[in-house]
Amino acid sequence: EFKIKKMDLKKYIRDIQDFPKPGIVFKDITPLLLDVDARDYALQQMLSAVKDKPIDKVVGVESRGFFFGMLLAQALNVGFVPVRKPKKLPYKTIAATYELEYGTDSLEIHVDAISKGDKVLIHDDVLATGGTSKAVTELVEELGGTVVQCNFLMELTFLKGSDRLKGNEIYAAVTY
Ligand code: PRP
Ligand code: MG
Repeated sequence: EFKIKKMDLKKYIRDIQDFPKPGIVFKDITPLLLDVDARDYALQQMLSAVKDKPIDKVVGVESRGFFFGMLLAQALNVGFVPVRKPKKLPYKTIAATYELEYGTDSLEIHVDAISKGDKVLIHDDVLATGGTSKAVTELVEELGGTVVQCNFLMELTFLKGSDRLKGNEIYAAVTY
């Protein structure tokens, strides 16, 4: 089997100090999106983590989960489902609420996006506290889907998001 050369994806993720607020170090993935080889390598890493697992749909989380979510769906030859921020989806939706540092926010999915029994791969760019992804698992399950894996470009392990996703398989191409 052809193996692509190992790459250090961290070289394509840059730290931005004090963004979006003082004291926060933001992990910027735009250099990775710009580089064809790094982008493909990241995609192949995430694909290899689901090989041999049947997947019916990929759910990508607005907005940074859309980039690789769609690439994963295309590579797996399955449908892509956008989970969006409130009031963006035009058809009938259900919503799930999650905690922010101050207050709450919610995410929505179209009610016809997932069928009962669908095996679903959830993708987002970052697993931080896990609040976002946890809400997405609730949306998928409420529509009768089964979450096969929550799949991320990177996991910020010190924020312990995996605790919140207990019971779900997690994969991250890069961990900090
Ligand atoms: C960021 C990131 C993940 C989420 C991770 O999205 O893209 O979706 O936060 O955080 P959590 O694990 O603590 O929930 P954000 O809400 O900033 O929006 P964006 O993707 O549109 O930039
Ligand atoms: Mg996001």
